[in-house]
Amino acid sequence: MKVRKAVFPVAGLGTRFLPATKANPKEMLNVVDKPLIQYAAEEAVAAGIKELIFVTGRAKRSIEDHFDKAYELEAELEKKNKQDMLDIVRNILPTGVSCIYIRQAEPLGLGHAVLCAKPAIGNEPFAVLLADDLIDGGTRGCLGQMVDIYGHYNTGVIAVQPVPRSDTDKYGIVEVRPIDQRVGKIQSIVEKPKPEVAPSTLGVVGRYILPPDILGILEQTNRGAGGEIQLTDGIATLLERQQVVAYEFEGKRYDCGSKLGYLEATVEYALRHPELHLQFGEYLKSRMESL
Ligand code: G1P
Repeated sequence: MKVRKAVFPVAGLGTRFLPATKANPKEMLNVVDKPLIQYAAEEAVAAGIKELIFVTGRAKRSIEDHFDKAYELEAELEKKNKQDMLDIVRNILPTGVSCIYIRQAEPLGLGHAVLCAKPAIGNEPFAVLLADDLIDGGTRGCLGQMVDIYGHYNTGVIAVQPVPRSDTDKYGIVEVRPIDQRVGKIQSIVEKPKPEVAPSTLGVVGRYILPPDILGILEQTNRGAGGEIQLTDGIATLLERQQVVAYEFEGKRYDCGSKLGYLEATVEYALRHPELHLQFGEYLKSRMESL
């Protein structure tokens, strides 16, 4: 079955970026000239996703506005004959892709957020993308690569990357048995283990393809780490019933949930931006010389 739907859990409070995220969702933070959520949506669309399901919370209106038609702005740009800008504003999402918004009334965790999307997911496999993990996954994109893996194994796929042992308590950590290049059968998964007890140093990044069976499991999943209903715990139960594979994606992930990762992404994306790369490169060089 094709993966046609993607869930974007965007109800988090973004406390690591306060005060920037006081009235503005963290997913709307810009990297050069696009908000994080748009990068994630574009990655999903490039992977063949047709339905974007946003699980939102309070103060997230700007996400809906971003993907909506902007009549006044379009009229103004049209009047001023600014066709380039008009194209940008009109083509945020291609035709044939639709958006659904569901509210997560209480911040009960990632597993709960995914469960909130159940009525819109139905009985088919779906992707989950965490927009604060910005992934440069080349032409195919990280999710596109995962869709290929899904097509091959026909089981859940979770994107992973090696992380420093000192950081295992920031990630879901998987233990795998390698079955192919970059692919391993997940033996166990645990949410944010302390470095001394982590079963490996392979960390889950924010891209998942999951079978619909996970939804029934999440309904039965109790609160785990941090008092939240963890997607990781649901996946651990899923593993008792069916295979899930971990996939070491090709590309680079920027942790835009942290200030440093966000700055790194900004510099990298500016250095390859068609309008900016020359001037910004010059600026960076001269700045480095004066450090
Ligand atoms: C979430 C997941 C975690 C995963 C991480 C990737 O944690 O719970 O398993 O490794 O995303 O970014 P969060 O960063 O939302 O606390």
